[in-house]
Amino acid sequence: MKTVLVTGGLGYIGAHTAVVLLERGYNVVLVDNLDNTRAEVLDGIEAIAGTRPRWDNVDLSDPAAVEAWWPTLPPVDGIVHFAAHKAVGESVAHPLKYYRNNLMSQALLLERVAQKPEMAFLFSSSCTVYGQAEHLPIAEGSPILPAESPYGNTKQIGEEMLQDAARAYGFSAIALRYFNPIGAHPSARIGELPLGVPQNLVPFVTQTAAGIRPALSVFGNDYPTRDGTAIRDYIHVVDLAEAHAVALERLLNRTSEEPVEVFNLGTGTGSTVLEVIQSFERSTGATLPWNFAPRRPGDVVAAYADTAKAERVLGWKTKRTLDEAMADAWRWQQHVLNSTSSI
Ligand code: UD1
Repeated sequence: MKTVLVTGGLGYIGAHTAVVLLERGYNVVLVDNLDNTRAEVLDGIEAIAGTRPRWDNVDLSDPAAVEAWWPTLPPVDGIVHFAAHKAVGESVAHPLKYYRNNLMSQALLLERVAQKPEMAFLFSSSCTVYGQAEHLPIAEGSPILPAESPYGNTKQIGEEMLQDAARAYGFSAIALRYFNPIGAHPSARIGELPLGVPQNLVPFVTQTAAGIRPALSVFGNDYPTRDGTAIRDYIHVVDLAEAHAVALERLLNRTSEEPVEVFNLGTGTGSTVLEVIQSFERSTGATLPWNFAPRRPGDVVAAYADTAKAERVLGWKTKRTLDEAMADAWRWQQHVLNSTSSI
């Protein structure tokens, strides 16, 4: 049985990936310092997967803590590295928090991989590295544009760090560039847990429909798109989690062809903000109060993935629709409201 370390394993994408890896028979060890999540997520993972993985509460950006903790682990075959701060606005206000946490933790983990180069390493990157791409859909060869935020810059530098380290120390890694992950596990036992006012569209939609927020502000109605609102590629988080399992297997089977392979993870279809609202209302029967508001600074007009490389090389593509993602996000929102003990 292969052992996989999932960093940020109690976070949104980490928890869904942990479930998929457990279901595929991996020995999963989670590490998470609860910076932006809650310990109860472990109960949700256990309820779905039928096993309670080991969870260690370690700050991966603390060299002494990592030094003390690493020898307590069983031999690690692969690392799926999610642990990172991810709020764009906060990163502008507190850039050093982002550089320190995101880059330091990655460097400390890669030092461990360098010592045992047969270890697989999966890196969470983002379509934010493309900025407003000139050509749509966006393929992996699309130019990397100067980052709009320190958060985005940590993803760009993270990819460069990975390239340099993989070449120098002879290990193989995969960087996965996510488009917009949404939805929740269909069991409603795990999902996104935004603390405070959500910045991302779908948690704001579900909280508004639940009456927690008065109305959704649709940022911008004058974009050059089919209905004037911005276009994104919304991918169901369980599809995204499955892609991690496939990419990990590719590394463990030693079938990757370059030191660092890069894949876009999206559906290939762009949806406008108004189409997301329609999908939500159609799939849930709920009503969403919304109004137009000015554009949000830093937002791109349109971004959606060219999925050909992931389909051809990984043999992976998304299976779940936007409507399913909306229904799952809504079921999760209701679970959060109704539950006091399990989140
Ligand atoms: C954002 C980040 C991106 C990060 C991703 C993680 C920015 C500029 N980008 O992407 O770097 O990787 O989250 O999930 O923050 N919208 C509204 N009203 C709202 C919220 C959003 O109209 O209350 C619109 C936005 O203008 C955008 C779309 O919904 O057109 C999606 O927004 P969001 O979920 O925040 O994702 P991104 O901005 O694409």
